Amino acid sequence: MKSLGLEDKVVLVTGGNRGIGAAIVHVLQELGANVAYTYRSEPDLSTGALAIQADVTDKDAMATAVEQVEQKLGTVYGVVANAGITRDNFFQKLTSEDWDVVLDTNLKGVYHAFLPVIPKLYEQGEGALVSITSISGERGNLGQTNYSASKSALIGFTKSLAREAARYGVRVNAVSPGFIETEMVQAIPDKLKDRIVSEIPLRRFGKPEEIAWAVAFLLSPITSSYITGEVLRVNGAHHT
Ligand SMILES: NC(=O)c1ccc[n+]([C@@H]2O[C@H](COP(=O)([O-])OP(=O)(O)OC[C@H]3O[C@@H](n4cnc5c(N)ncnc54)[C@H](O)[C@@H]3O)[C@@H](O)[C@H]2O)c1
Repeated sequence: MKSLGLEDKVVLVTGGNRGIGAAIVHVLQELGANVAYTYRSEPDLSTGALAIQADVTDKDAMATAVEQVEQKLGTVYGVVANAGITRDNFFQKLTSEDWDVVLDTNLKGVYHAFLPVIPKLYEQGEGALVSITSISGERGNLGQTNYSASKSALIGFTKSLAREAARYGVRVNAVSPGFIETEMVQAIPDKLKDRIVSEIPLRRFGKPEEIAWAVAFLLSPITSSYITGEVLRVNGAHHT
């Protein structure tokens, strides 16, 4: 039986208590990884993974979370920066608060999640970082100027950090989901949901597990050892 080489590797997933993050935690556990995840309010009690309460907008809390993971599970191999939010509205109706909280969570939150592990990964000469961008960051979306800005910025961030980290043997990639069945998509009005599905060549929304397997592929030192600075689209061909 082949493996993805993630057995006993310590991986931290932000926002791992529900939706795509929870699916990532489950898939990585199935692959034998030693998984920790952060949550904001409610931990997911269905998993044996290490749960740590930490808000990604809080730089110190994320540094402490990484320390806790190392004390309890050992040296970190990978981080999946999954936590993200929407605060949708048409541009002229967006408040400064809507703008700030989305950028702070979706962009600065990734910086906060990666920053404490980077020196350690460089020192150990291996590791993999994955962030979750979005189809909205690639092609734009009505009512999501703030969200799209945060998600397309992540693509530039990923490509730049990948160039810096390569010489240390550390890879940095992003997964770009289309519309995935989670609370985020359940919040879209039914009429609009039907229209979106009709535009997806595979004629359905994606499942959280389908994003989780793409993340596992990019974390794996076997399947993606020569892939860095890449954005892997998982969207049923919706972007075309
Ligand atoms: N669902 C989709 O269709 C879709 C599409 C493209 C990209 N994404 C991205 O995938 C990621 C996961 O989305 P989801 O659909 O599972 O959403 P979700 O709302 O179900 O889950 C979001 C997770 O992020 C966590 N989170 C939010 N703000 C946080 C904060 N400040 N600190 C710590 N944790 C925080 C939440 O607690 C939750 O665990 C997000 O980055 C989202 O932008 C989702």
